[in-house]
Amino acid sequence: MLESVLEIAREAGEIVKEGFGKNFKVEFKTNESNLVTEIDKKSEEHIKNYINKKFPSHGILAEESGGTNTSAEYVWVIDPLDGTTNFAHHFPIFSVSIGLQKNGETICGVVNHVMLNELNYAELGSGSFRNGEQLKVSDNSKLGRSLLVTGFPYDINDNPSNALGLFTEIVKVSQGIRRLGSAAIDFCYVAGGSFEGFWEVHLHPWDICAGKLIVEEAGGIITDFDGNPASIHSKQILCTNKLIHHQLLEVIKKNKFD
Ligand code: IPD
Ligand code: CA
Ligand code: CA
Repeated sequence: MLESVLEIAREAGEIVKEGFGKNFKVEFKTNESNLVTEIDKKSEEHIKNYINKKFPSHGILAEESGGTNTSAEYVWVIDPLDGTTNFAHHFPIFSVSIGLQKNGETICGVVNHVMLNELNYAELGSGSFRNGEQLKVSDNSKLGRSLLVTGFPYDINDNPSNALGLFTEIVKVSQGIRRLGSAAIDFCYVAGGSFEGFWEVHLHPWDICAGKLIVEEAGGIITDFDGNPASIHSKQILCTNKLIHHQLLEVIKKNKFD
């Protein structure tokens, strides 16, 4: 199956790359910060056509068009363009993220970091890789020496879980915080050891599915803000190299709202 997920993530990546920097239509979804471009839709259409043709019995959960046949044995979880705000502003950090679940368990995940030609992928139980090189989380165990990454959801004005307060506390106890604008890429850089940790609230299954497997297969851990194992449906995500998890969790527990 991994070969098929890789093939379609590469093809969708070409569509996105082809559209980058051109004149494309941009629409607002729930508010003026929540965008969708015609390239998001084109990428999603292409991925769905591929799946429907090759695996007609499989279900699909895709960001722009929703779910079909999601109780099937195999379900594809698709973010056709993760980092749409960057893309709309001609800023070259965005990805195509595709996870494949079997009976609710993610068995393959691919994140194509399009403009850097970094293809990140994992298969359950077989490790995770970037362009053929095995990924491994950082072995740094000190929060004060950790570079972290986060993101803000489109409903940040409601300050869910005190996301704004968490940012101001965590920036004080870490070496630094980055905000790349693609959650799928954030996971991959924890998997590869560039970042020790990533946290965000109100992500969606398509933001999480592929990246979560890639991090776990690289030796990382993902929980919610209470320390319970996370799923692709979790509304709070804390993802680390394991070694700083407890330290970061303590800061989060002290400062989050329920
Ligand atoms: C967004 C990105 C961003 C994260 C947002 C997501 P989209 O996805 O992953 O990094 O902070 O919460 O919604 O809308 O560009 O696919
Ligand atoms: Ca997304
Ligand atoms: Ca998206």
